Amino acid sequence: VTVWLVGAGPGDPGLITAKGLDLIRTCEALVYDVLAADELVAEAPDDALLIPRAKLKQAEINAILVELGEQGLEVVRLKGGDPFVFGRGSEEIEALRAAGIACEVVPGVSSISAVPGSAGIPITHRGVSAQVTVVSGHSADGGDLDYDHLARTPGTLVVFMGVAHLNRITSQLIAAGMAPTRPAAVVARGTTVHEERVDATLDSIAQDAADLRSPALLIVGEVVAVGAAQRPGSSAITA
Ligand SMILES: C[S@@+](CC[C@H](N)C(=O)[O-])C[C@H]1O[C@@H](n2cnc3c(N)ncnc32)[C@H](O)[C@@H]1O
Repeated sequence: VTVWLVGAGPGDPGLITAKGLDLIRTCEALVYDVLAADELVAEAPDDALLIPRAKLKQAEINAILVELGEQGLEVVRLKGGDPFVFGRGSEEIEALRAAGIACEVVPGVSSISAVPGSAGIPITHRGVSAQVTVVSGHSADGGDLDYDHLARTPGTLVVFMGVAHLNRITSQLIAAGMAPTRPAAVVARGTTVHEERVDATLDSIAQDAADLRSPALLIVGEVVAVGAAQRPGSSAITA
């Protein structure tokens, strides 16, 4: 293998896998995303080539990975969370395979459950939610989410990349029939020392969480209240 797609985990540098960390420590080139923790980038050998993703387009990243692979270097492509969860890791693998370069995926801890979990929200809870729907809110301004379907789907809804469109997403869900009083939370920079959590209902979360910035997840469903009841200081905790 020459190119490894490694999941960096959700933010806390301690949440990378042991295998991923070993690969960073021995790589010859490290191509990394903005969401990857600085502490992980610092683990690369002093003489390793460091390439931040920064503002590069996906096609440019693919080309860089192919070029480094063709040079026979041991390359780590470090991606936030898990490379195959809204990470375009599969596009990079396709490009590498098309160029005949050996590559492998090292899965990571995705923010899907790690970010709500770190903030005290279980995405499933027996008797409350046995189903999780995960969507990208990235293009929500383009209206490409199936809101009628989402409003009818029971269980927990987790929205990635939706923080810029919270107002649009929540009002569309309500317009499609989801209860405005459903518990909702936004967790920003989850698992890091900067983690912030705002709890509200579906009809007020956009306003209440307006100050939170990406990366953030919107979590909608009764599990939000379950988590709240388990938190220290909550009035729902009984002695
Ligand atoms: C391009 S996606 C990458 C997801 C990543 N591959 C994963 O498995 O977590 C980026 C989005 O993931 C979510 N995200 C990633 N890390 C997060 C964190 N520490 N706290 C909150 N949301 C996070 C946000 O919705 C962010 O906009």
